[in-house]
Amino acid sequence: MKRAKITVVGAGNVGATTAHWCAAAELGDIVLVDIPQTEDMPKGKALDLMQSSPIMGFDSQIVGTTGYEETAGSDVVVITAGIPRKPGMSRDDLLSTNAKIVASVTEQIAKTSPDACLIVVSNPLDAMVQQAYKTSGFPQNRVMGQAGVLDTARYRTFIAMELGVSVEDVSALLMGGHGDTMVPMPTCTSVGGIPVRRLMSEERLNEIVDRARKGGAEIVGLLKTGSAYYAPAAACAQMVEAIVKDKKRLIPCAAYCDNEYGVGGYYVGVPVVLGAGGVEKVVELDLDEQEQRDFQTSVDAVKELVAEMDKLMSA
Ligand code: NAI
Ligand code: 2OP
Repeated sequence: MKRAKITVVGAGNVGATTAHWCAAAELGDIVLVDIPQTEDMPKGKALDLMQSSPIMGFDSQIVGTTGYEETAGSDVVVITAGIPRKPGMSRDDLLSTNAKIVASVTEQIAKTSPDACLIVVSNPLDAMVQQAYKTSGFPQNRVMGQAGVLDTARYRTFIAMELGVSVEDVSALLMGGHGDTMVPMPTCTSVGGIPVRRLMSEERLNEIVDRARKGGAEIVGLLKTGSAYYAPAAACAQMVEAIVKDKKRLIPCAAYCDNEYGVGGYYVGVPVVLGAGGVEKVVELDLDEQEQRDFQTSVDAVKELVAEMDKLMSA
């Protein structure tokens, strides 16, 4: 069987760790790309990872490069290129630098891997996916963003910690943009099949929802030199796996929504079916009044950010 080819652009914390999780799960052969200024760094990380293969027992080939030739014909491309935030910065502070980086990376990828699925990770996420969609000219289903898997994982972790149960038994959903207005969905949260509201007070649940919303900033505050990468990279690997194994996972991703949820042509976090065709379906739910209001607030924040980005990019 032919192995999938996975390119990860940006060989920094999230990129290298994504390569690590993907290799360990034998999802395919991996090309790790960074800018020429990093010189041999991507080669060094790729070789180091390869040398873990006899111990970990995987046969994925991993190469590092500062060019795009080796990425040609990739099935999936994960874009982590860009700057991360430091304490005191919001994701939106990264807008102008990262929009240019994402546009230039996407341009190269669209030439060398015209049939790939693109998973954008760079922040501010929802605007960066929109940029990649615009630059690539790819169909909507083959361009998506990673945020919901991570944000939902944080939310699930906090619930499991609170109840002292396995994270495997916590099933949850979080929608909206990858920012402070993201929308955890207690109505779609259960533990071992039991609705979460039957297991904890509304007050405690609200505290957990709030912590999940601020989960990225909590890690930035602790690390001080950058942002989270283990959980974000694990989230990317789950999305890569869903595509290369055609798993039809029902998970939240930043997906293009036009009529869906009345969004009107923007990328925003929604539940999707993810498989070999990329985003094969956006799953539409009936939101209650509060959820609808919160979701709209989040979508409006994404729209504002995209408008600001479009202005910056056309200046
Ligand atoms: P990092 O600084 O460790 O790595 C970024 C890498 O991108 C660096 O090695 C840099 O040289 C490279 N890069 C910059 N311009 C490039 C270009 N034009 N082509 C190729 N590579 C280029 O940062 P980290 O922690 O890996 O974060 C990467 C991005 O992912 C940030 O924007 C961060 O905010 C975002 N992020 C998003 C998450 C999400 O859930 N969507 C979660 C975590 C991080
Ligand atoms: C996070 O949520 C920085 O967006 C990144 O950790």
